Amino acid sequence: MDNTYITLYSKSPLETEEIGKIIGKISEGRELFLLLGDLGAGKTVLVKGIAKGLGIDAQIVSPTFIIIKNYPGRLTLNHIDLYRINSIEGLGIEEYIDDDLSVTVVEWGEKLIDSLRLKEYLLVKIEITDDNSRKITLVPKGERYIRFIERIREWQT
Ligand SMILES: Nc1ncnc2c1ncn2[C@@H]1O[C@H](COP(=O)(O)OP(=O)(O)OP(=O)(O)O)[C@@H](O)[C@H]1O
Ligand SMILES: [Mg+2]
Repeated sequence: MDNTYITLYSKSPLETEEIGKIIGKISEGRELFLLLGDLGAGKTVLVKGIAKGLGIDAQIVSPTFIIIKNYPGRLTLNHIDLYRINSIEGLGIEEYIDDDLSVTVVEWGEKLIDSLRLKEYLLVKIEITDDNSRKITLVPKGERYIRFIERIREWQT
């Protein structure tokens, strides 16, 4: 078995939310999830699930125009959307990531990897395979996230 990543298949927005919910439930603080995927792939749908898993009732809306939104819960959810952002300078993203009581989820998160020289994060790649079908690949970077996806594997079995 290849244990370097996990591939999950979703057949509906609800199933994608459920996957997010598991990710939220497993989170312990200071997690960083970088979401990759085309427009309409389902990144925000996944974030809604993560919020539920953190016990957040608030309606999650895409923060496209505001860039960063924070939602209090069991842990604070920092929802960041970098779609329109060319430079992350001055956004204070490092401080959100550095918080033990936060979970930070970044849409178009690949933009952060080089600029912040990130070494530890979970890549969540969402691919559109059909109208309602998505392939979701979780790729851990760093020991911590290797352990994290082990826990997701436990949920699968
Ligand atoms: N299996 C699925 N999982 C997630 N979304 C799905 C699925 N099937 C259909 N959809 C639809 O795809 C759309 C996903 O929208 P969403 O806003 O989450 O995408 P996004 O990746 O955040 O896009 P953007 O880059 O514009 O922020 C929704 O309209 C949702 O109903
Ligand atoms: Mg979105």
